Amino acid sequence: MNLHDLNKIAVKMVARGRGILAADESSGTIQKRFDKIGVTSTEENRRDYRELMFRAAEGMRYVSGVILYDETIWQKAADGTPLVKVIEAADAIPGIKVDEGTEELPEARGDLITKGLDQLSKRLPKYYEAGARFAKWRAVIDPTGGRPSYAGLLANAHALARYANLCQAHNIVPIVEPEVLMDGDNDIDTCYDVTEWVLKETFQQLYYLNVKLEGIVLKPNMVVSGMKCPQQAGVDEVADKTVRLLKSCVPSAVPGIAFLSGGQSDELATAHLDAMNKRGPLPWALTFSYGRALQAAAQKAWSGKKDNVPAAQAAFSHRARMNGLASQGEWSASMEKAG
Ligand code: 13P
Repeated sequence: MNLHDLNKIAVKMVARGRGILAADESSGTIQKRFDKIGVTSTEENRRDYRELMFRAAEGMRYVSGVILYDETIWQKAADGTPLVKVIEAADAIPGIKVDEGTEELPEARGDLITKGLDQLSKRLPKYYEAGARFAKWRAVIDPTGGRPSYAGLLANAHALARYANLCQAHNIVPIVEPEVLMDGDNDIDTCYDVTEWVLKETFQQLYYLNVKLEGIVLKPNMVVSGMKCPQQAGVDEVADKTVRLLKSCVPSAVPGIAFLSGGQSDELATAHLDAMNKRGPLPWALTFSYGRALQAAAQKAWSGKKDNVPAAQAAFSHRARMNGLASQGEWSASMEKAG
């Protein structure tokens, strides 16, 4: 492990005014996104769609890194340039999702466990060779129905730490992503308590597995009301509770925290990030690693038609710029209208 290099990459991933584009939807997930816009999910369509984002020069100014799915890291752009090179040409770092989805952990109240450790030490050098300098592994925690169980929580935190340990051994920065889901009927304080437990356990396991915090990026959920909860917390409450929780759980050796959007609307994900950064100075960079909240508008504008590429690129660039501003606490709702 070269901790100096890992730290340099991690710091670049959370550089001021920039964040991460999560374009690592699995085949099943991208199919769901394409179904919504009436596009068939073929290898070429997936390539064309992702290429249009990576070539959106204006938007990529605010993108420090791109998380890719296994298919995409090996793909070439329409003109034959490897997509990894297109990303590097935009001064962004290519990254790779390495988890292999989830399955139920038996006897654990329905908790899920993330798969993919078995062959990981063999896969990582190939991804490094292909240009990946960071990786992502997502653990999923459901905070409803009496979940999570301690078994589920511990197993997921341990798997995250095993993954992070292997990544660092191969000079790849691990994005450590324990996601407490936002789509249930739980209130914001349940989200707070479960996220606190998850983060405390995750950092404990990272310590036991000798993971160096200077060489990771944390990707957590924000502390929010579940989407089906009748009582929805406002932007200030979300920002106050999320910042308070992170300060109590995340050591300042961690260079940065890049949030997932988790199904929040585009503008709300931006408003929350902005409100948190307005509460600075903070011990770490706070930025975005959004999938849906960066891409939804672009997908709609594109709808699979070549003629719509400039409009889709404009939609993507607008969201990237708004989130770039929010990562510095410099966004305001009036900028959305201007855009
Ligand atoms: P969303 O921002 O759509 O939640 O996706 C981010 C991500 O990478 C989830 O693993």
